[in-house]
Amino acid sequence: MTLVPGTVRPRRLRTSPALRRLVSEVRLHPADLILPMFVKETLSEPAPLTGMPGVVQHTLDSLLTAAEEAVAAGVGGLMLFGIPEHKDETGSQADAPEGILNRAIRQLHSHLGEDTVIMADLCLDEFTSHGHCGVLDARGGVDNDATLDRYASMAVAQAKAGAHVIGLSGMMDAQVGVCRDALDAAGFPDVVIMGYTAKYASAFYGPFREAVDSELKGDRLTYQQDPANGREALRELDLDLAEGADIVMVKPGLPYLDVLAEVAAESPVPVWTYQVSGEYAMIEFAAAAGAIDRERAIDESLIAFKRAGADAILTYWATEVAQRLHGTAGAGPAGTER
Ligand code: PBG
Repeated sequence: MTLVPGTVRPRRLRTSPALRRLVSEVRLHPADLILPMFVKETLSEPAPLTGMPGVVQHTLDSLLTAAEEAVAAGVGGLMLFGIPEHKDETGSQADAPEGILNRAIRQLHSHLGEDTVIMADLCLDEFTSHGHCGVLDARGGVDNDATLDRYASMAVAQAKAGAHVIGLSGMMDAQVGVCRDALDAAGFPDVVIMGYTAKYASAFYGPFREAVDSELKGDRLTYQQDPANGREALRELDLDLAEGADIVMVKPGLPYLDVLAEVAAESPVPVWTYQVSGEYAMIEFAAAAGAIDRERAIDESLIAFKRAGADAILTYWATEVAQRLHGTAGAGPAGTER
């Protein structure tokens, strides 16, 4: 067929806001958005983060208030990260019933457990004195299998505290299967496992290190994926599915849209993505400098994840965007309204 100028006009579908809304391929809904939250044991007041303007480390009290606000806005769920007062070699506060993360889970479960999905980060880096996601062997490397024992114990502690979903972010081999077995054996067959299937060793986690007071010196290149490797994500996907992952994740988000699209094309289970701290910081700081329109950039980044195939998105803007979508919920990405 030859294209006859004047006959084939893609612009025809862009002529009015209503038409653009009608032909929008994907749209954002508040329930697609998951809010990551930080709770820190030693605080008496919430502490703003310099690398993430607008994000704070919470006290248990301010965590509850912010969680209630997020739930009222209709977000899909909450993902909790805890920062303990005492860090040690094995991250003993991670599975201590009175550890800050487990207390926070219990608190949110008792107030909001029926109204939202409570998720907990399952990893040791916030709890270890060396900042690695696992325990170390005699030579200072991260010991995969010794770490799995710690993860199994954390999974059960988080389930006992009331987590509906555990988010396995440590990138240890076999972490999904080991935690599934531990949960089932402890009587928690309904606790959902979300595996960080393709998690890359990324510079975009920079501001998160401040958010969790990370002690890390060095890097995570022996366990997180090399940014050069896309195909490897599908291998990780096969393994996570075989081990029983209920949900899989690609992280970070924007620099890995190709990986997200490939995983979404293959996965029979929901696929989530994490718009990480550095992605948040880039937009906030660029907007503060007057270089970009903040809300449009936020919305465009989120809609890009939907277009690439994400079912849900972890984003520090979850509450704000959910509130904004309320007026237009179901009416397409805010960008189509302009
Ligand atoms: C590890 C973890 C990290 C993030 C979430 N879970 C940091 C890392 O792997 O170094 C980063 C999230 C973000 O940057 O927003 N528990």
